[in-house]
Amino acid sequence: MYDQYGPPDVLRVENLPVPSPGPGQVLVEMSATSLNLSDWECLLGKPMYARIGGFRSPARRVLGSDIAGRVESVGSGVTRFHPGDEVYGDNLDLKGGFAEYALAPESALSRKPETLTFAEASTLPQAGAIAMQGTATAGPGRRVLINGAGGGSGAFAIQLAKQAGAHVTGVDNAGKLEFMRSLGADEVIDYRSQDYTRGEPHDLVLDLVSYRSVFAYRRALARGGRYLSVGGTTRSLLRITTGGFVLGRLTGRRIGVLVVKLGPAGFEPLAERCVSGDVQIHIDRTFSLEEVPQAMAHVGEGRALGKVVVQIDQ
Ligand SMILES: NC(=O)c1ccc[n+]([C@@H]2O[C@H](COP(=O)([O-])OP(=O)(O)OC[C@H]3O[C@@H](n4cnc5c(N)ncnc54)[C@H](OP(=O)(O)O)[C@@H]3O)[C@@H](O)[C@H]2O)c1
Repeated sequence: MYDQYGPPDVLRVENLPVPSPGPGQVLVEMSATSLNLSDWECLLGKPMYARIGGFRSPARRVLGSDIAGRVESVGSGVTRFHPGDEVYGDNLDLKGGFAEYALAPESALSRKPETLTFAEASTLPQAGAIAMQGTATAGPGRRVLINGAGGGSGAFAIQLAKQAGAHVTGVDNAGKLEFMRSLGADEVIDYRSQDYTRGEPHDLVLDLVSYRSVFAYRRALARGGRYLSVGGTTRSLLRITTGGFVLGRLTGRRIGVLVVKLGPAGFEPLAERCVSGDVQIHIDRTFSLEEVPQAMAHVGEGRALGKVVVQIDQ
């Protein structure tokens, strides 16, 4: 848990009372939690949108939104789950996954497929929803570029776009180029040595880390093309929703922010494809609950290939 925004060493382990589920809530005995860039952003309090609900100090003192575990008890009005059920989901509003017990609204949870481990299931909710919705318009012959493609959402997005028949370019740091190729990327770019907006234009750009000007994004698109930002600096996101929208309209392109619909409908279809073996889950490393600061640093410093998991019931 933490009381102030800052680097991983502001996190500490503490004993807290086991919470009780309120109306519509489920108490989950945690097995595994995967990390997302949103956990890192909420730890640092940067970009500014990561402070929504707690400007000076964090609103949620225990991070961890992608949760997987067994139902311990349920609050009044909960009908879909019973004690003992194996569940997983994106608990972005309440968080609390880096703990032995977490409270989640019933609506955030889904029943875990039997053939996926808790660790595997925990990788899917947030990254899977982003990847599914971000690549929904990828299709045969379309040139798709994914910026930040070597991380959690990107590793799923490359596979989904490739399977949809698109020509896929993955952009990330040099240490992740081989990994992106192994997922199916036709071309790879090291963002530290090459600016993708100055290369070939694309029909779809899915950007997980936006920080450039809207003119650069316009340059990256073919006529009729679409740029979707999922995350990045506050400044860049503001520019995309204002100037980007207008510039896109004027030049026959679409430039905007993808507000991802979170919840089971967003990640269950991906889970089915993982169960059938169409899509692979890549867990880069697994840490223990006491090692959450190291796990955070591993993700925040950009060393993770695919997903990082905290195994709580070791
Ligand atoms: N729109 C919504 O509704 C919504 C909902 C939830 C989450 N989000 C956002 O979605 C994003 C999801 O990220 P994730 O969890 O998939 O992150 P992740 O696993 O950390 O992956 C991001 C990747 O981008 C790379 N990267 C960093 N800077 C880059 C740059 N300048 N150019 C190209 N690549 C760069 C990182 O590698 P290195 O750092 O090693 O270079 C990393 O491999 C986050 O920004 C999160 O805030 C959006």
